[in-house]
Amino acid sequence: LPLETLQSGGAGPLYLKLRQSLEEAILSGKLKQGDALPPERDLADYANVSRVTVRKAVDDLVRDGLLVRRHGSGTFVVRPVSRVEQSLSRLTSFTEDMVRRGLNTRAEWLERGLFQPSPDEMMTLGLAAGALVARLGRLRIADDMPLAIERACVSAEFVPDPLAVTSSLYSALEKKNARPVRAVQRISACNIKEPDAAMLGVSVGAAGLSIERVSYLSSGRVVEFTRSLYRGDTYDFVAELTIPE
Ligand code: GLP
Repeated sequence: LPLETLQSGGAGPLYLKLRQSLEEAILSGKLKQGDALPPERDLADYANVSRVTVRKAVDDLVRDGLLVRRHGSGTFVVRPVSRVEQSLSRLTSFTEDMVRRGLNTRAEWLERGLFQPSPDEMMTLGLAAGALVARLGRLRIADDMPLAIERACVSAEFVPDPLAVTSSLYSALEKKNARPVRAVQRISACNIKEPDAAMLGVSVGAAGLSIERVSYLSSGRVVEFTRSLYRGDTYDFVAELTIPE
């Protein structure tokens, strides 16, 4: 920990300086998400300050959400939620977006199977009577942080065996030569309700973005009808605007 400088002059209360060193260690990644903070006594000895000073600094960081106290087991580092910038003009998959940022993705499956389509799904996907759909519902997680709940619906023709889709839907579609080339996406604001709030790790009523994507093959056929719920505290959607001709 970069605590050496603590006693070396400079104005301001000692606890603020300790707070700052700890904050720097968290933000720079020296202390990682889930790391346990050394016991108060050890920190006080190490930084050569009193336990009261340590407690005040830690209290501050707990209040700001960078540390969390777990009863009986200690104090742990919480990595602050960094915002994700997402282009609105490129048709990419969640997995690709996260890989580009160097994040590891995983999913918790909420639904995965073949179903009779709802009238809505049947119309949007342009299905013939009797055709089935694959529904893929996932909580999407990047580096242990839940970011979105996505419920994709695809004609069973393109995903005949939904259980075989273990990671990326778009790479599964690519294998079937059915990767979409165009999509229309609608974004609207919402308040996140239960049970979604619990899954996303936000409080009930937190701001969310509800996103619907309908994507197409070059033939004009609809491939995908996906409804997603993204955390409002995490995403910035960015679009490039040009002057209409
Ligand atoms: C984005 C889109 C979804 C799409 C998904 C595919 O998240 N909002 O509509 O289904 O990407 O991602 P992947 O190929 O990682 O499953």
